[in-house]
Amino acid sequence: MDSTPADTSASAETSTTNHPMAPHNDIEAFHQVLKSSRRILALCGAGLSASSGLPTFRGAGGFWRNYDATQLATVRAFKMDAGIVWLFYSYRRHLALKAEPNMGHRALAALARRNMDFLCLTQNVDNLSQRAEHPSSQLKSLHGSLYDIKCSNESCDWIQKGNFDDPFCAALAPASVDMPNGEPLPLLDPYHRVKHIGEDEIPKCPQCKKGIQRPGVVWFGEDLDANMMMDISAWMRAEPIDLMFVIGTSAQVYPAASYIDKARKRGARIVTINPEAEDEAEMYKIKPGDFAFGRDAAECLPILLEPVIGKPDEDGEFGMP
Ligand code: OAD
Repeated sequence: MDSTPADTSASAETSTTNHPMAPHNDIEAFHQVLKSSRRILALCGAGLSASSGLPTFRGAGGFWRNYDATQLATVRAFKMDAGIVWLFYSYRRHLALKAEPNMGHRALAALARRNMDFLCLTQNVDNLSQRAEHPSSQLKSLHGSLYDIKCSNESCDWIQKGNFDDPFCAALAPASVDMPNGEPLPLLDPYHRVKHIGEDEIPKCPQCKKGIQRPGVVWFGEDLDANMMMDISAWMRAEPIDLMFVIGTSAQVYPAASYIDKARKRGARIVTINPEAEDEAEMYKIKPGDFAFGRDAAECLPILLEPVIGKPDEDGEFGMP
């Protein structure tokens, strides 16, 4: 996985170019396009889970203690201090277990149930799309899962799926504390000293008995799962793509972000949903025929998808097709 800044080289001329027929944020026009779209792709990022209370990786939510969250997502950081990396991921595991899928996750899951030709690629490792009952065959978790555990020994292929232990092990209990009355968690205060967690306090791999266990997420510099990548490529090549949603992602991490251009080349119009999507600085990304909605994904997706998924019932469920 590479972190490459998005290309900002578009000319000023293209920056205000838009669909000749409708403004980029016209919901009625979008509904018409959606109704005539069959093969639909989505790329989701941390912003999809923001309204479930989970922090993003960059921007305001991007710091954990005094660490840049993206700096902790590396093999190097794990080799230097596995304990601090594990505390960061344990905290995320705990938060995501307490969080609930939001209306954005539910709306995408409902779209998948109604349209077998919809494929959702998520960079999120929080399991919220799965908990919203997004059909597994239509969901590719590009960056793995917080609830998969792997061996840190590169020559060992041990993996445990769906480990929801909280705390993951006794030494990581400080990351799973719920403070009374919304008081801040001491662990999050960079001035609060945390006890160093040694590698001997982290469970060993039961298979090779050499490596220590690590989160089953993809770190910077690591490859995405090869079979999953082949499945995605095959899906993309099979037929043209009508529409691609880019939801709550800064699209700075590759190869995930590269699917946007690939889908465009396969014919897709791009619809971006992100509070920043309509900012002046983002306008150059909106090409003729594209849509951009500068809104919260959880609030916006049910409205955008309504012609296909209907309105939710009073429990926030879209029901079965
Ligand atoms: P980022 O933190 O880079 O971007 C989150 C995006 O969500 C930003 O563009 C925000 O503007 C947007 N956003 C914030 N609140 C939103 C809301 N309510 N609705 C919609 N959008 C909102 O997160 P990602 O793009 O997901 O990898 O980051 C990609 C990868 O980098 C992550 O998967 C992670 C990280 O390193 C791993 O940890 C494996």
